[in-house]
Amino acid sequence: MKPGMCLLIILPYLLAFVPLVQSGSTQGLTDLVKRHLPIHAEDISFVLHEDNYTLGISNDQYTVHCDAGKVNVEGNSITALASGLHRYLADIAHVDVYWFIGSQLHQLQTLPPCEPLDGISIVPWRYHFNTVTFSYTTAFWSWEDWELELDWLALRGVNLPLAWVGYERILLETFMDVGLSQEQVLDFFSGPAFQAWNRFGNIQSSWLGELPVSWIDSQFELQKKILKRMVELGMTPVLPAFTGFVPRAFPVVFPEAKVVNISRWNGFSPEFSNVTFLEPSDSLFAQLQKNFVRKQKEYYGDITHTYTLDQFNENDPVSGDLVELNALANTVWRSLKEADPDAVWMLQGWLFFFKADFWTKERVKAFLDGVPEDKDMLILDLYSETYPQWQNLDSYFGKPWIWCQLRDFGGNQGLYGQVMNVTVNPVEALANSPSLVGFGLTMEAQEGNEIMYDLLLSQAWSPSPIDLPEYFHQWARTRYANAQDGDLPEAIFQAWDILLRTVYNNTDLVSAFSVTKSIFELAPNETGLLESPSHIPTKIMYDPSTLVSAWQRFLSAADTLPTLWSNVAYQFDLVDITRQVLANAFYPMYSTFLTHTNITSAGFDNETSLQVASQMQGQMLSLLSALDNTLRYTPSKSPESSLISWVNAARSWAGSNTSMADFMARNAVNQVTLWGPNGEISDYASRQWAGLVGAYYLPRWQMFTDTYLNAFRNRVSVNQTRLREDTFVWEKSQQEGVLVENMGELRDPGGLRDVVKRIEEEWCDVLGC
Ligand SMILES: *[C@@H]1O[C@H](CO)[C@@H](O)[C@H](O)[C@H]1NC(C)=O
Ligand SMILES: *[C@@H]1O[C@H](CO)[C@@H](O)[C@H](O)[C@H]1NC(C)=O
Ligand SMILES: *[C@@H]1O[C@H](CO)[C@@H](O)[C@H](O)[C@H]1NC(C)=O
Ligand SMILES: *[C@@H]1O[C@H](CO)[C@@H](O)[C@H](O)[C@H]1NC(C)=O
Ligand SMILES: *[C@@H]1O[C@H](CO)[C@@H](O)[C@H](O)[C@H]1NC(C)=O
Ligand SMILES: *[C@@H]1O[C@H](CO)[C@@H](O)[C@H](O)[C@H]1NC(C)=O
Ligand SMILES: *[C@@H]1O[C@H](CO)[C@@H](O)[C@H](O)[C@H]1NC(C)=O
Ligand SMILES: *[C@@H]1O[C@H](CO)[C@@H](O)[C@H](O)[C@H]1NC(C)=O
Ligand SMILES: *[C@@H]1O[C@H](CO)[C@@H](O)[C@H](O)[C@H]1NC(C)=O
Ligand SMILES: *[C@@H]1O[C@H](CO)[C@@H](O)[C@H](O)[C@H]1NC(C)=O
Repeated sequence: MKPGMCLLIILPYLLAFVPLVQSGSTQGLTDLVKRHLPIHAEDISFVLHEDNYTLGISNDQYTVHCDAGKVNVEGNSITALASGLHRYLADIAHVDVYWFIGSQLHQLQTLPPCEPLDGISIVPWRYHFNTVTFSYTTAFWSWEDWELELDWLALRGVNLPLAWVGYERILLETFMDVGLSQEQVLDFFSGPAFQAWNRFGNIQSSWLGELPVSWIDSQFELQKKILKRMVELGMTPVLPAFTGFVPRAFPVVFPEAKVVNISRWNGFSPEFSNVTFLEPSDSLFAQLQKNFVRKQKEYYGDITHTYTLDQFNENDPVSGDLVELNALANTVWRSLKEADPDAVWMLQGWLFFFKADFWTKERVKAFLDGVPEDKDMLILDLYSETYPQWQNLDSYFGKPWIWCQLRDFGGNQGLYGQVMNVTVNPVEALANSPSLVGFGLTMEAQEGNEIMYDLLLSQAWSPSPIDLPEYFHQWARTRYANAQDGDLPEAIFQAWDILLRTVYNNTDLVSAFSVTKSIFELAPNETGLLESPSHIPTKIMYDPSTLVSAWQRFLSAADTLPTLWSNVAYQFDLVDITRQVLANAFYPMYSTFLTHTNITSAGFDNETSLQVASQMQGQMLSLLSALDNTLRYTPSKSPESSLISWVNAARSWAGSNTSMADFMARNAVNQVTLWGPNGEISDYASRQWAGLVGAYYLPRWQMFTDTYLNAFRNRVSVNQTRLREDTFVWEKSQQEGVLVENMGELRDPGGLRDVVKRIEEEWCDVLGC
């Protein structure tokens, strides 16, 4: 297929869907270069030709020319220019900007020459973020964390990012304008680590204390910086809108208001769920919408017409009646158009998969038909790589939509990818769905596995599925190159080739459907852990010994090229691969432990069995201890890279207010442990982090294995109810500061070599290397 062909077909949709508001200046890119590559600020130039590319305004195109140490990038949009710059930096100069380890562009001394480069995107939009990413990943981010993210997004061609930060300030003012008191509104808001689900109308209020106004204000200030930078970098931010979720006191102030209690979410008590929803058919809805959108425009400027608006994300509409669903969507759409005549309503399409029982094809059609103009809507097909819905729903009946890779739940960290689905399927979708207008990343959290995110964004510039071995090779080449270094050891490419064929090439989507977690992160149990409980894939989808061989090759690369020991990307990935190798080794220990404490199969009074079980307990606990220790050498200081950094980032928002710092820490801890006042979705957002492994998972397994060994010695079976109760009491006791006191510190990554070498020595028998 020629690059132009599909574009001509989809052009009518693209021309219709133009919510673009651009700054038109290349200053933002010059500033980006100055931030990361100041010595070459004069040598890299950008020329924007807004309209002279043959295929019109809809797709981004760039050309890059190198001439006598200068690099000139031309393109038809700021995004195209950023993408051209990235192409040069990553493919020619072998430097890039990464999550967790930050920008490596400073490594570039001289600008290497290049043959002319050109690129054209196959879709006009590249989207990024899920509403919940704002809680699982960015909740406590500083402006510096955001700067890195926005540069990452710009360089990778993202031009449509979601922008939720600071929403509570706009909403607070909107409600106070119509007569609610500040207290009444604050009572509605959830804690800093849980805002996403409050914004979705799943939960309300905070079980950890009221949301501080200072937090609301500082997030609002942060949002202003984020939006300004997004626009400078050529992006169209997607802003929130008024959803209809209102404080409990709303019907007190407006006794005539048409409200319903909408949510019953994940076992949360009515105190924290049962969210009040103002029916869009009430004229107050449009009034609040108008005020909300006007305020945003006043504060942030006229920067976008695209709004994220989800009312039924894990909440069901009151009625499934087709006429009512149609009228509901129509009313919401009209409220947006009254507030902004160019408004485009963006919907996260999770509901059509997750609540497929409710959302029958005819109901979805009735709902979407409520928006009479197709161009006024944009659907995120949220989970396209595993459970795409666009085929079932006739390409959303003509509404523009985006093919999205969801891939990660709650920040789980297994090495994992579906390389075939992320390359072959979006290209097929583009050929088969005329209303497909973009590719996007809708992860619940950004974890490691960065190559999988890059892969889809790269695919957006390639009309045929990307050649994977070649892509992985190039990626590794750039990632570990100290730009001037020349050749990397072959072992490093062999390691990545094994990773491609094992962890990154899952094709059995029934057994695993997104990033995996390890069983040691779950509440210990003799059943249920290995079978991938719903939405928590724990199954190892490849031969673990193959991963061990990748690990050893990766490790041997630094014997050949010792400078790798001080290469931050190498350090980070070595910790990550070691983490997975150790996590996998936990599985057989667990199974052996259970077999040898099983009264039914091992009989009573069986000394041999008891010995094996005790030995297994020792191994399980020292494995977790070794893992926790290794994780402390991660070279990353990102909030989402250890319990220490997560909690400290949360605390840093409190300034010198110690009671607020404690409140922030409790929020941070609760999300990654109990997730709710009573463990409503305990361990959903578990993380394999330094501090959490050693101070939370390890003692929890100690309790479990002690109980089993004691029961076996005493010739009784374990009382499951009591063990569950005791474990829960312990889990709760960790919430109030204990965990934070025990989380320990990070260590100098320079010590990583000794630590990993020791693991290789001590654990090789067990690991099978
Ligand atoms: C766009 O216009 C500029 C100057 O007007 C020209 O140098 C450039 O080659 C044009 N690009 C294309 C792709 O036509
Ligand atoms: C919604 O729930 C609140 C408290 O849970 C209750 O007081 C109120 O009556 C309910 N409203 C409706 C309309 O059912
Ligand atoms: C939750 O809301 C429903 C109405 O939708 C109401 O009937 C119920 O009483 C509320 N529950 C509690 C415990 O407040
Ligand atoms: C994912 O890719 C595999 C292997 O190519 C294929 O069998 C499967 O149908 C794809 N799944 C989806 C949802 O596209
Ligand atoms: C991934 O696995 C599928 C199915 O086994 C195979 O057809 C494909 O070639 C593999 N792809 C890569 C890049 O290893
Ligand atoms: C204990 O052994 C019996 C008999 O072999 C088996 O049915 C049961 O599943 C085992 N229990 C566990 C927890 O492995
Ligand atoms: C002791 O338990 C092991 C398995 O744990 C079993 O193979 C062996 O037969 C048992 N011995 C006796 C005497 O029950
Ligand atoms: C400190 O934080 C607490 C909890 O957020 C808040 O109630 C209190 O007003 C704050 N104190 C000061 C001096 O700002
Ligand atoms: C198991 O523990 C629960 C809770 O502690 C207790 O109520 C129950 O009686 C115990 N069951 C047995 C069989 O001991
Ligand atoms: C193990 O899981 C079962 C099924 O969910 C549950 O009933 C039991 O309480 C759990 N046991 C422990 C110790 O948590």
